[in-house]
Amino acid sequence: MELSTMLFIFASLLFIIVLFRTFIKPYYVSKRKDLPLPPGSMGWPYIGETFQMYSQDPNIFFADKIKRYGSMFKSHILGCPCVMISSPEAARFVLNKAQLFKPTFPASKERMLGKQAIFFHQGEYHANLRRLVLRTVMPEAIKNIITDIESIARDSLASWQGRSITTFLEMKTFTFNVALLSIFGKDEVHYREDLKRCYYTLEKGYNSMPINLPGTLFNKAMKARKEIAEMVEEIIVNRREKKKEHKDLLGSFMEEKAGLTDEQITDNIIGVIFAARDTTATVLTWIVKYLGENPTVLQAVTEEQEAILKRKEESGEEKGLNWEDTKKMPITSRVIQETLRVASILSFTFREAVEDVEYQGYLIPKGWKVLPLFRNIHHSPDNFKEPEKFDPSRFEVAPKANTFMPFGSGIHMCPGNELAKLEILVLLHHLTTKYRWSVLGAKNGIQYGPFALPQNGLPITLYPKK
Ligand code: HEM
Repeated sequence: MELSTMLFIFASLLFIIVLFRTFIKPYYVSKRKDLPLPPGSMGWPYIGETFQMYSQDPNIFFADKIKRYGSMFKSHILGCPCVMISSPEAARFVLNKAQLFKPTFPASKERMLGKQAIFFHQGEYHANLRRLVLRTVMPEAIKNIITDIESIARDSLASWQGRSITTFLEMKTFTFNVALLSIFGKDEVHYREDLKRCYYTLEKGYNSMPINLPGTLFNKAMKARKEIAEMVEEIIVNRREKKKEHKDLLGSFMEEKAGLTDEQITDNIIGVIFAARDTTATVLTWIVKYLGENPTVLQAVTEEQEAILKRKEESGEEKGLNWEDTKKMPITSRVIQETLRVASILSFTFREAVEDVEYQGYLIPKGWKVLPLFRNIHHSPDNFKEPEKFDPSRFEVAPKANTFMPFGSGIHMCPGNELAKLEILVLLHHLTTKYRWSVLGAKNGIQYGPFALPQNGLPITLYPKK
């Protein structure tokens, strides 16, 4: 054999060994040889099974895997080895053992939202932020903003009346305005349009390639982010000058005891808008769809809401909803719960193992991603009878422990769930008592972007009731 051929073979072998030790071994070979990895397949090196998962409805991919390997299986997506879990107990374990599993996001998302935003942290800083957010969105606090939420709902619905609208787009404006109200209180009206313009540019960059060159979506998004930061800074400076106490989220973040820098405040304000707007708007869009398809349920909700109006009228009570009224809406509340279950807008979330973890005799290696599959838990016949059927009455009985987690679980569980439910109730009160609607175009189909959403955002025409 010629020397050059021998050298070529030697160099190739060396390359393969280096490649294996650097990229493949840490992922595929467990340090704890005594424990097996969960069953499953890893697909092609690096690409893994990303195409299989995203070229179809991801739920078909998950259902197929669960059938083949059981409720816990390994895979490889978006360049990362991962373990997917679909049993309520395993999901609870992963979400509640924060010391073993940390939240994880793509780096581009971290740059857009800001590194200091609540989602990316654990420990003392995270606990402090959670406390500051929770005290402005817990029932005691949001009771005081019902009238303002109601006026946003009324104005929104009046502006859709007699028009063909895309439900999701209009709901996004409604939930955006409610988010701004809870963050900036009444100050928001002066900044609403500018914040909206910038935030719409920012969101286009969330899922773009992180290339920061003039003209790219990412570059435009980063510029819009800077503009939002400047507006927040202006409001902060104004408030410091006036020394007035504010009970909104910005007021909570600005308290001296909170100990946050202006940069930390801005990152978390952008973070809360991100967490609050599309989630709630998507759920509202699904509710409009399900109510339209289930006339008996719509009738029951309408009667419940009309009964509230009638009782207030008869007792001479002040017009407009109050906190007690919203506690007298059990049927409407069950519609929200059932929509959260069937639509499962957040199909799954991501965590990362911070050390080798043993679970049910299997190894979850350090650095692997772990995905609790909310949608599969909500759609398993073991947890919900006839899971594909929209049946709000199933929530007359509480679901089995850990089988219903639309707001997550553990220390990162959604702090905004009470606010979300309140704004949905208020909008539904006005929608069902004053309006009717018809769906336009194709009625079925789901699009993912990233939340599961009715096809084309559900175009409808809204009419006032006679
Ligand atoms: C129906 C609407 C909503 C749904 C379905 C929803 C769902 C969720 C879920 C599942 C998580 C946990 C994610 C994880 O563990 O990886 C979460 C976190 C979060 N949500 Fe919501 N959310 C909604 C509305 C809101 C609203 C209105 C706010 C406004 C305050 C909000 C603020 C947050 C924040 C700040 C976090 C991060 C908490 C942390 O990391 O400690 N969400 N949400």
